[in-house]
Amino acid sequence: MNKNRNEIIWKDIKSDFPILNNVTYLDSASTSQKPTVVINKINELYTKYNANIHRGVYIFSEKTTAEYESSKEKVKKFLNISDASGYIAYTLNATYALNQIARMMEETYLNEGDEIICSIYEHHSNFLPWIEVAKRKHLNLKILYEVNIENIKKTLNRKTKVLALTHFSNVTGDIFDIGEILDYVNNTEYLNNGKCITVIDGTQAVGKIKIDIDKLNPSFYVFSAHKVFSPTGLGVYYVNKNIENKIKPVNYGGDMVNHVETNSCILKEMPYMLEAGTQNYESAIGLKSAIEYIENIGIENVEERLKVLSDYLRKKVMNLDYINAINIEKFFDVLSFSIKGIHSHDIASFLSERNVFIRAGYHCAEPLVSYINHDESLARVSLHIYNDFEDIDKFIDSIQDCYKYLKIK
Ligand code: ALA
Repeated sequence: MNKNRNEIIWKDIKSDFPILNNVTYLDSASTSQKPTVVINKINELYTKYNANIHRGVYIFSEKTTAEYESSKEKVKKFLNISDASGYIAYTLNATYALNQIARMMEETYLNEGDEIICSIYEHHSNFLPWIEVAKRKHLNLKILYEVNIENIKKTLNRKTKVLALTHFSNVTGDIFDIGEILDYVNNTEYLNNGKCITVIDGTQAVGKIKIDIDKLNPSFYVFSAHKVFSPTGLGVYYVNKNIENKIKPVNYGGDMVNHVETNSCILKEMPYMLEAGTQNYESAIGLKSAIEYIENIGIENVEERLKVLSDYLRKKVMNLDYINAINIEKFFDVLSFSIKGIHSHDIASFLSERNVFIRAGYHCAEPLVSYINHDESLARVSLHIYNDFEDIDKFIDSIQDCYKYLKIK
């Protein structure tokens, strides 16, 4: 149920997150805080019905299994994934999902001389697995320095077998028009229908902007539950049915097989064949509750609120001429910056003394940070719906103090 924007009292939203009492948390691109409803849901699991999923024929196991399965149904509805279009598989985290995808494609699809294209904006997790596959299979790895449709048209060709793209940069706060790019891939005869596999990293996007997977139609779309108000330890990935013939598990073990003999096995159907071993049903159940929480606010309202907060931050930072702010005109939600002569870690430590928590370093996207900031690390502010104007004011005041005390005299 989508609330009318005027009905939402953002102060109440902040108080839904008990940890935020007296701290200014500005590192949600790294992980999100958890609302009371999600914490209570996890408590309910462990105090009322905890048992391993898919294995028991007693009430607890049936209840936990039903909650786990309905979590996937919730994800599908939230991201508009129809049964006809594809599957949702759960794994350890987004990085693990991307590694699994790269290894599956290595085994079933990629051959010497094929080409993989990664954008410079990729997080290490959608970069390093492809670098390794490229080395092992003697593939050409090309870097896309500008993510736009003109460059895509110029770069993709008949040899391109993988396009790995982030939806939303965790460094620059760019949201790329992947709809336009996927439309091009899906409508170009030598790329469509899984001839060029599209691997979209939606880790920063899910829970912050509205996403319609059926409309986008990627081969894979990946995200991380812990950035969506849920517990850690759960990576989520969408697998398009049109590449089912390229899916072969990379992990084997319990729960993913229908029949086992001493030298062979019969796999379960999709997506269960991708889920070997006990899954993180705790986080899956938390994710269901987190999505319900977002649905109750309305994803459009979340997006609008983050835009308002981003605009406020933009205006404030633009007044500080000693801040080198990346993508200041366009960023959404995530703002990286540096201050000449002050190391990013010193900025973050100084702010921490004032209970303002930001991230600093290379943000697991070292090629990008090196490219855009001359090899120097960056401090980064990232917002979520529990932030407010006061948090941004507190950040700005602390940065002004930081500059006053730490600048090179
Ligand atoms: N990828 C996460 C970040 O950007 C950890 O901080």
